[in-house]
Amino acid sequence: MMRSGRFLSLFFLHSACLLALFAEASEPARQPERIILNLTAEPATSMAVTWCTEVELGEPVVEWAVAAEGTEFVKLAQRLPARMERWAEPVGAPAYHYSAVLTGLKPGTRYCYRVGAGLQLSEWNQFTTAEASAKPFSFVWLGDPQDEITEHCSRVFREAYRTAPKAAFWLFTGDICGDPLDSQWAEFFGGMGFIARMVPSIMTPGNHDTAYLLKEGKPDMYRPTYARRDPARVGQVWLSNLTLPENGVAGLGETNYHLDYQGLRVIMINSNTRLAEQAAWLEPLLASNPATWTVVAFHHPLYNGGAKRDNRQTRDAFLPLFDKYKVDLVLTGHDHVYMRSHPLREGRVAAAGEKGTVYLVSASGPKFYECNTPYPELMARTASGKQLFQVIEVGADRLSVRTHSADGVLFDECVIRK
Ligand SMILES: [Fe+2]
Repeated sequence: MMRSGRFLSLFFLHSACLLALFAEASEPARQPERIILNLTAEPATSMAVTWCTEVELGEPVVEWAVAAEGTEFVKLAQRLPARMERWAEPVGAPAYHYSAVLTGLKPGTRYCYRVGAGLQLSEWNQFTTAEASAKPFSFVWLGDPQDEITEHCSRVFREAYRTAPKAAFWLFTGDICGDPLDSQWAEFFGGMGFIARMVPSIMTPGNHDTAYLLKEGKPDMYRPTYARRDPARVGQVWLSNLTLPENGVAGLGETNYHLDYQGLRVIMINSNTRLAEQAAWLEPLLASNPATWTVVAFHHPLYNGGAKRDNRQTRDAFLPLFDKYKVDLVLTGHDHVYMRSHPLREGRVAAAGEKGTVYLVSASGPKFYECNTPYPELMARTASGKQLFQVIEVGADRLSVRTHSADGVLFDECVIRK
């Protein structure tokens, strides 16, 4: 009896626990998830925040205040209403994405913020706005994560954070995920963890970030119905999960844009589409550039890492401009190798004393190709089979690129001087 009663009690206890667990597991999340900071076109005075929930929350807001030593900032917090967008893949539950852009911020200032609605609020996180003028800083660059993000990219992201915890922002050159699917973006946010909430990101898309097309050309996001890609559009997951600048070519918002950060002009090109229009947009940005340094970032490399890979259209569109306006550094991905060029000019190694552009190809994810570049004479360093991240330090008269492998070891370094 005793045993039976105990058994029954245990049975009911276990059933209740299981039910509770099941209810918890099956109930859509009300708590804000996938919180991410993105730089805006005015990084000294504004910041974009995006997040999502599985349940629609009424009156979503961002609460924000200048950071303080203790908790007194909470009483001073301002509330900014967020924009909500409902989105669902053809199969699967809908998600509710929210975004807001904080404006009127003070340069070089640390802020606290949290997101949500009512009682469903996130923890407080912090960010720092850019200084209003040139000042040395560093940022992290990551080439394609793309595949097996949870399994193999998480440690790269976290090692990058450990290596450069004070980085002003992270820059991605496309192929964030292999497919424009919500499940893969869930992996990206899981791998990034709190980093996405504390360090603003900017990214430009690769071919794998483009939208799916059905055979008849109707847009779709669900893989079994996918016939081909639409290079002219990024997947809806890109637009829903991010809030990026829209000061590029009309129609390429959140994929082609530029911003100035403390003496560095950062130009993000969407190399999937409309190259001539982006080149026309780019030229005046290079011709009248108030920044000391210029970095141009996009997905498809001008000097390929594979003998049978060639992005001639991209090269034809942009290389003359990079030479003409003496761009310092070009960051690309796509080829799943590592390549760092010598300073180049007009397709050759720049002569001593002549200004050249350094071209980099890198990948942070676990997909590897052999490096058999048709341009070996132009390259200072090449490698295959390495997951890499870069810490780029921008100074008054020197810019350094330090490439680390996934285990944190410094693998390559180059310095560009003014
Ligand atoms: Fe790619």
